[in-house]
Amino acid sequence: MSGHGTPIPMSSANCGPLTGTADVPGDKSISHRALILGAMAVGETRINGLLEGEDVLDTARAMRAFGAEVTDLGGGAWSVHGVGVGGFAEPEAVIDCGNSGTGVRLIMGAMATTPIAATFTGDASLNKRPMARVTDPLALFGAQAVGRAGGRLPMTIVGAAAPAPVRYTVPMPSAQVKSAVLLAGLNAPGQTVVIEREATRDHTERMLAGFGAQIRTEDTDEGRVITLTGQPELSPQTIAVPRDPSSAAFPVCAALIVPGSDVLVPGIGLNPTRAGLFTTLREMGADLTYENEREEGGEPVADLRARFSPDLKGIEVDPARAASMIDEYPVLSVVAAFADGATVMRGVAELRVKESDRIEAMATGLRANGVEVEDGEDWWIVHGRGHGNVPGGASCASHLDHRIAMSFLILGMAANAPVSVDDGGPIATSFPIFEPLMARLGADISRTA
Ligand code: S3P
Repeated sequence: MSGHGTPIPMSSANCGPLTGTADVPGDKSISHRALILGAMAVGETRINGLLEGEDVLDTARAMRAFGAEVTDLGGGAWSVHGVGVGGFAEPEAVIDCGNSGTGVRLIMGAMATTPIAATFTGDASLNKRPMARVTDPLALFGAQAVGRAGGRLPMTIVGAAAPAPVRYTVPMPSAQVKSAVLLAGLNAPGQTVVIEREATRDHTERMLAGFGAQIRTEDTDEGRVITLTGQPELSPQTIAVPRDPSSAAFPVCAALIVPGSDVLVPGIGLNPTRAGLFTTLREMGADLTYENEREEGGEPVADLRARFSPDLKGIEVDPARAASMIDEYPVLSVVAAFADGATVMRGVAELRVKESDRIEAMATGLRANGVEVEDGEDWWIVHGRGHGNVPGGASCASHLDHRIAMSFLILGMAANAPVSVDDGGPIATSFPIFEPLMARLGADISRTA
């Protein structure tokens, strides 16, 4: 439930080499899904390495409100006693999903084919974000939604009493929309088919298969066609959550731009639908290697080693890769500021409807710190200044967006003058140990009020 608290202004300053090991927390996307599918299975699911960030804790509270027993066993281990597909109880109070678009959209899908009503709200950021992208396909199952103008939260969903299976082509590259439709399809009889033109993160599909659902994905001329057979009994699982590549991005990118750095980031999930940033950084000339590649819990994993990279160059980022690095463009734009030449990012309209308008937020803050940025509806270009030439010195607005706050704090680590953010509070939604972890590597981050 971030964004309800007092702002936490923070600042970061130029520092010596970043060195050591960065143990980043569990994957946010996988953590939400483990709690939700655990709640829809019959029996006890065990989750190890759950991300205990505010977004995921809000989802844990929501699953309790729908009748699942969710227990924190300590040390990142959690237990979920599920109520079965179609077994959700009607919550007694409004469900507050805080800052989390993933949480609210997936939970809406999961309850939309059960005949109960639930009202959802969030913080000031979430209550501005579009929900029609989820409620439109949920209406095809027979669910009804009443919200604020423009399909905004707070919003009440009345689940379908006699759900019909659906065939739906997702109009934008969104794993949240795809997942909401699949989760709704769980309690519809027959086959629900979701088609996506561009591949987005496939954790829901992998985890549904792990829980015993009948699900198959085919690559066709139409795109990826995912077929799910409804009304399975999901069997409880033991889930090991890999560490989050989207969180690993911050220490990795910091190491690339702070002279002399050498940082190891172990156990990072490298699902190809998530790892686009690392491919892009290597194309820019980053000294970034994968060590000890292996598979854990059905997901590819490796230890990442990032070293200071003096010869970064700007590139045209392949737009076909956008979905696999959609959350990493803010921190990529910071690395781009230290590269020689322009980094061109196209096909990224979705960045405008994240926790903030991420193109606008980053472009404004980078310009204030002396970096030239051009931008349009679905593209932006950062004109790199090269190492040692990024002025810094400005204060940036984080717009209740964790990744914007962390990106500007990374900028400050290698800029010539400190960079501050008006509110680092939202960092707790996805990366609650960001400050101590970066400090242990040698970063100079302070709370300024
Ligand atoms: C997520 C999907 C992406 C991503 C978000 C997590 C998920 O959002 O930006 O942080 O876990 O499914 P979209 O589905 O809106 O692209």
